[in-house]
Amino acid sequence: MKLIISSRADAGAVAMRFFTSEERRKLPPGITELELSLKPASRVFLHGERLLCVGLGEKGKVTADTVRHAAGAAALTLKRAGRTRLCVHMEDWPQFAAAAVEGIVLADYRNADFKPSRVPALDHVTLVTGSRELPAARAAASRSETIATTTNLIRGIANRPGNVLYPATLAEEARWHAKKFGLRCTILDEKKLRAQRFGGILAVGEGSARPPRLIVLEHRGGPPSEPPLALVGKAVTFDTGGISIKPAGEMEKMIWDKCGGAAVLGAMLAIAQLGLKRNVIGLIPAAENMPGASAYRPGDIVTCYDGKHVEIINTDAEGRMILADAIGFARKHHRAAAIVDVATLTGACGIALGEAAAGLWSSDDRLRDALLAASKDCGERLWPMPHYPEYDDLIRSEVALLKNSGGRMAGACTAAAFLRTFAEKTPWAHLDIAYTAFRDKESGAMARGATGFAMRTLVELATRWR
Ligand code: BES
Ligand code: MN
Ligand code: ZN
Repeated sequence: MKLIISSRADAGAVAMRFFTSEERRKLPPGITELELSLKPASRVFLHGERLLCVGLGEKGKVTADTVRHAAGAAALTLKRAGRTRLCVHMEDWPQFAAAAVEGIVLADYRNADFKPSRVPALDHVTLVTGSRELPAARAAASRSETIATTTNLIRGIANRPGNVLYPATLAEEARWHAKKFGLRCTILDEKKLRAQRFGGILAVGEGSARPPRLIVLEHRGGPPSEPPLALVGKAVTFDTGGISIKPAGEMEKMIWDKCGGAAVLGAMLAIAQLGLKRNVIGLIPAAENMPGASAYRPGDIVTCYDGKHVEIINTDAEGRMILADAIGFARKHHRAAAIVDVATLTGACGIALGEAAAGLWSSDDRLRDALLAASKDCGERLWPMPHYPEYDDLIRSEVALLKNSGGRMAGACTAAAFLRTFAEKTPWAHLDIAYTAFRDKESGAMARGATGFAMRTLVELATRWR
């Protein structure tokens, strides 16, 4: 898709115009209704094949999110009608140019790796603003384009099935893209993981014929002495549950158990392209959780990277084991200033919040507030969750420092309490994206599959956080 920001309209394209409910009278007469699924009060009408009218609801309630969704839905409507050249009129909404671009680019993604998509991709989008607003709109829209295009790239990676994408191929993929955008990339293979005692990653990878990896991405945009912000993402390329095997129903969804890692990869690639003037590292522990002959088992005691011992209660609580190593590595080896981990960690988080928001835990108020502010601006909902000492009690083991499962009660909170132990005094935050990272059905303008959730929040955080 080619994007042009201009003060002049593209006469050969379908025009997309936004209307608030107060502006209903301005709508051209005799429009045909094509799509009525937009909320709130948003409607898309195609007029005489040349004009698409998009409703935004009440004027006073229009936010970046409204525009993001409306523009995405409108673009999808046009694609479905076979129209791939659009001219988006933002003269009245120059402050939302970036949001419109994001919505349109994200709506353009379809997983067509193994089955061609029935809807064509967009080929030409012109975004129009007044000439005074043009420079600002151009800067904001091009930043959004970079971020959204990279989001689509990692959605494609996250949507690949377990037989195609496994730790070694994910690592190669990361290496390839990192090189393209000037990120430093180091891959720790099984031998190096063993030599450096990454006990958690190795334990989880043990049952699989496809050995684990730790992918390390480094963006050095700040002074060499500046301690980096560390982004850590869970990449379980397939989660069977291991010996504590999952029921067969819907297990295929566990191809998306690498979405946290994909979000971190995307954030790092975007941060490199945007040239942020600060140090950021991305750590992606990658493993396949399988019940093989040499799989780790309940009752095992695993020694993590930082030397903490963990009693395995449930091999299906594998995400926290690989994250524990990566968090320990960020703290001890990279001396991170702050650590933010992202993971499809617990079904319990979905029970608590549904698909409406991801859970947010943090040991540091300033970091929590920064994440909440960042996520609000990019339309990725986070909901702050608690730490109570009772959660620490639930994961205390009789034979080791911790056990890897605290049982059913407060499952998302005990998982967070587990991770927090490994961050120790380093400011830390955790995003449980189990039910926001992917959709098994198309929803709004978002295609079925990985959503890229959390990537934009991470980029925003890295842009602003001090
Ligand atoms: N990958 C799953 C969590 C998950 C569930 C993600 C559904 C997306 C959708 C994770 O590894 C897991 O199995 N968690 C267990 C933890 C339990 C064994 C303590 C869970 O949530 O049941
Ligand atoms: Mn699991
Ligand atoms: Zn998992």
